[in-house]
Amino acid sequence: MQIEPFFVEQWMNAHETTATWNIAETCVHSLTFEELLELSGDADGVLRRLRDTWLGYGDIVGSPRLRAAIATLYGERIGPDDVLTANGAIGANFLALYALVEPGTTVVSVQPTYQQLFSVPQSLGAEVRALRLREEDGYLPDVEALHALTDERTRLIVLNNPNNPTGALIDEPLLRQIVEVARERDAWLFCDEVYRKLEHEPGSTAPSVADLYEKGVSSGSMSKSYSLAGLRTGWVAGPPEVIQRCLDVRDYTTISGGVLDDALAAVALECRDRVLARSLDIVRGNLAIVDEWIAREPRLRYVRPRAGTIALIRYDYDVPSVDFCQGMFDEGGAFVMPGIAFGEEHAFRMGYACARDVLEGGLAAVSDFLRTLEG
Ligand SMILES: Cc1ncc(COP(=O)(O)O)c(C=O)c1O
Repeated sequence: MQIEPFFVEQWMNAHETTATWNIAETCVHSLTFEELLELSGDADGVLRRLRDTWLGYGDIVGSPRLRAAIATLYGERIGPDDVLTANGAIGANFLALYALVEPGTTVVSVQPTYQQLFSVPQSLGAEVRALRLREEDGYLPDVEALHALTDERTRLIVLNNPNNPTGALIDEPLLRQIVEVARERDAWLFCDEVYRKLEHEPGSTAPSVADLYEKGVSSGSMSKSYSLAGLRTGWVAGPPEVIQRCLDVRDYTTISGGVLDDALAAVALECRDRVLARSLDIVRGNLAIVDEWIAREPRLRYVRPRAGTIALIRYDYDVPSVDFCQGMFDEGGAFVMPGIAFGEEHAFRMGYACARDVLEGGLAAVSDFLRTLEG
């Protein structure tokens, strides 16, 4: 099996521990254990239960308590048995793709998106066709183009909603049109929904494909919207046959999730209104700062994200994105992701859900770097 190196993860690994201003991070500024205890409203009870936790393998598919809490993020179609926990969304995506992709079939995937979503199907022997999300369409999928990319060999359509790297949000009417294309081909519709529940534009929501379609499969995790990447807890939600296939795959890689991670993820989801209120407060406040900053930088532009933690920013300088981002890092320590990680040149992705002082310091360092280019 041949698999492309994962650009985003490699760039993160190479820079994140030495960056002065990490505005590449895609998680909402992570919680401490103490903060989670406070948000739970029952610190003593949570600590007592953790102390009593039996440190065996635990429930292989994820504890009933956690799976019940995850199921509440979905509608009636998804119950606790329609959920399988995984090592983050990255683990969940891998399981779902491994379960759903057949060699010799075609897979249509939105692009730009998280590279795993198309490099894994490619490595599994599928022909992957890119449904390009264009700036002029607000980075939303064009349903006619999607239809034209599918054929009788199409077994899977892959979405990422809300989208990494653009922060675009496919809302329900458009999602339903995409479901119709999948249904016409009798294809699975897999959506990486790791930024779901962070629809920060007032009045917007992102329904799950698992709720809209009998062959819809969703992945999610505690990392982004819930600010708990260190728990390494994600999940797949979907029809029983897919969950069983994912478990068949997972038996080879992961006996079970960590029992303490599982317990804390359940605590967080059970008080998710408070956790999400904090996250939304951070992204809304910080995005207002990015808006003002972009307005002051005439050679930068973006389609304002409607959801999630990240934005794709285009620049009007004749410098390839790797050189641009490395130069910025070396000059003033501002750390962002080159657009080429997503097949988008003259662009970079930034995360705006970090601590306020990091965002402000990072934006100032980017501006200082831009001045050196104008020299
Ligand atoms: C779209 C997308 N999916 C999955 C992941 C992996 O997240 P996790 O920490 O839950 O494994 C990321 C992380 O950046 C992401 O952006």
